[in-house]
Amino acid sequence: MKGIILAGGRGTRLLPITKVISKHLLPVAGKPVIYYPIETLKSIGVKDILLICGPEHTAQYVDVLGSGKELGVNFSYTIQHEPIGIAHGLSLARSFAEGQKVAFILGDNIFGDNFKEAVTKFKNKEKGAMVILKQVPDPERFGVAEFSGSVIKTIIEKPKKPLSDWAVTGFYFYDNRVFDVIKTLKPSARGEYEITDVNNFYLKEGSLEYFKAKKYWVDAGTFDSLHLANLLIRKNKK
Ligand code: TTP
Repeated sequence: MKGIILAGGRGTRLLPITKVISKHLLPVAGKPVIYYPIETLKSIGVKDILLICGPEHTAQYVDVLGSGKELGVNFSYTIQHEPIGIAHGLSLARSFAEGQKVAFILGDNIFGDNFKEAVTKFKNKEKGAMVILKQVPDPERFGVAEFSGSVIKTIIEKPKKPLSDWAVTGFYFYDNRVFDVIKTLKPSARGEYEITDVNNFYLKEGSLEYFKAKKYWVDAGTFDSLHLANLLIRKNKK
């Protein structure tokens, strides 16, 4: 299974600092944010990792991360010229994936859980996808899973009135068909190729699994969430 980290985007909620530095390189508990998704991939045994960056910050990533040798992984790099959606970013990994399954994580997502068992289950499946869910107090900010019993009925992107508090986090697992699925997508009302549409494809097919994260999850894209990530990681280290 190949690893893909998406670390482009506009970073408007962290202006003005994101004018000069990618938000994924800001420090959290003594490390750049992006070290956390790298460690998450490493912890599930994924070492070949493609970093997808925006054109303005690519050189910074190469300077900080290099080949990956120091972190015990192998990095490749590519550029998303325009941040037109998470699914669009993933589409750039097609040749890197070499027909394999992919573990796809957003560069600002920090998890406290260990996903080894869930991933072993996914690896053993012939086809399909898996999302990581987390209960949150503000589901309207995310893709939200609506359930019928223990089965996900649908996933709605940023619903005004969420029917559950289970957010779809930024850590996804797909079989290699995902690249064909993305080709069929149309941009959403906000002009983006949505990863929620990809997840709903697998859901309709009946091949979307989920794993409920129990520890912390921070989407470190705002000043408040960076602060929260610092607190949580330091607390959990004690
Ligand atoms: P967001 O935090 O939703 O978007 P953003 O990074 O542009 O920030 P803001 O809303 O403050 O302007 O993106 C989630 C993650 O996905 C983040 O790590 C950046 C990445 N991303 C891309 O790399 N390319 C894209 O096209 C999009 C939409 C996001």
